[in-house]
Amino acid sequence: MAEVNVALIGYAFMGRAHSNAYRQVGPFLNPRLKPRLKVLCGRDGRAVKSAAAILGWEETATDWREVVNRPDIDIVDVATPGDSHAEIAIAAAQAGKVVLCEKPLANTVKEAKAMLAAVRKAGVLNMVCHNYRRIPAVQLAKALIARGDLGKIYHYRGTYLQDWILDPKLPLLWRFQKDKAGSGALGDIAAHSIDLARFLVGEISEVAGALETFIKSRPLVGDPSRKGKVTVDDAALSVVRFANGAIGTIEGSRVSAGRKNYNRFEINGSKGSIAFDLERMNELELFSTADDGAVQGFRKILVTEGAYHAYIKGWWPPGHIIGYEHTFTHTVYDLLEAMAGRKKTVKPDFEDGLRNQLVLDAIERAARSRRWTKVG
Ligand SMILES: NC(=O)c1ccc[n+]([C@@H]2O[C@H](COP(=O)([O-])OP(=O)(O)OC[C@H]3O[C@@H](n4cnc5c(N)ncnc54)[C@H](O)[C@@H]3O)[C@@H](O)[C@H]2O)c1
Repeated sequence: MAEVNVALIGYAFMGRAHSNAYRQVGPFLNPRLKPRLKVLCGRDGRAVKSAAAILGWEETATDWREVVNRPDIDIVDVATPGDSHAEIAIAAAQAGKVVLCEKPLANTVKEAKAMLAAVRKAGVLNMVCHNYRRIPAVQLAKALIARGDLGKIYHYRGTYLQDWILDPKLPLLWRFQKDKAGSGALGDIAAHSIDLARFLVGEISEVAGALETFIKSRPLVGDPSRKGKVTVDDAALSVVRFANGAIGTIEGSRVSAGRKNYNRFEINGSKGSIAFDLERMNELELFSTADDGAVQGFRKILVTEGAYHAYIKGWWPPGHIIGYEHTFTHTVYDLLEAMAGRKKTVKPDFEDGLRNQLVLDAIERAARSRRWTKVG
């Protein structure tokens, strides 16, 4: 059975999610290439060894440069904060590796362009981890729109709300520092709403925007008696125009009390509407004007079976729901299948990452200028 060796850089939140995906994908989805969890890389030797033992990696390393240049590595998976994505992904591409990179692709448009140029020059398969595209209910939404069931699309309304930063005593983690994270709620979570907007509706051409930082300073990590400045947004709002004439809103906030991982969208078209909420991710709501007027209304479809559930073969009987971690398993499955089929692209790729970054950048510029701004 053909195997490919994976090197994963970063072993915390996304490192755990990706490790689980590589472990599950073989037994459940049976890709033609099986991933071997070869090297886990982090900066702290002892911590990375302990993580590797728990997560099931064969070897550990503390310098990603060594790892990306190892001849036995086939896939480099970048699950570190945004400030290291460009450097690692570019070096991996130059070494001829397949690259899977966490979102947002980079911290700046300039970095994202350099990353796209590097993977193109090297001719290596590349993918950005906008995992929510691969939720069966989202895939059904895509199929219904493509089939014309919603008619002409008028609105996309994307909200991604969390509340984990509400406590002002939460320390100044990397996610609150622009040089490390690129932006706050904007790049962290609104980037997912932007990707879903692009996936389901089309390219965003123009934006207005507002960013706000409510909690302006936070205790320093390791020294809570001192405070440091928060240099990213707590919340990001945007009104957007799509190239195809639709209009919409995108909202990301990490201070929305009570909202934990409220990644929701609603799409309204001339013939109907759909609505999705990640916290009820096995369901899609559909309203169709084609239904008999007497019984028209939103209906809830449990998306665990049927032709649009591309990954159903590996999981459970109808109604036996799947969860957050499956989105990553589906992502690595498609990457492995693309490798096996010697495909040149697997979506979303670094070009999607750059297009997403251009929207993030336009929202930041629009927020600064308080004007409608073209996506670059
Ligand atoms: N797809 C998603 O839904 C999703 C969800 C959360 C985070 N993310 C993205 O994943 C990335 C990582 O986020 P996270 O939540 O896992 O962060 P985290 O803080 O939980 O983990 C970051 C990891 O990177 C390691 N690291 C940092 N700098 C490094 C370096 N120079 N070399 C090697 N290792 C390094 C850290 O030790 C840690 O293991 C970010 O880009 C984030 O935006 C994506």
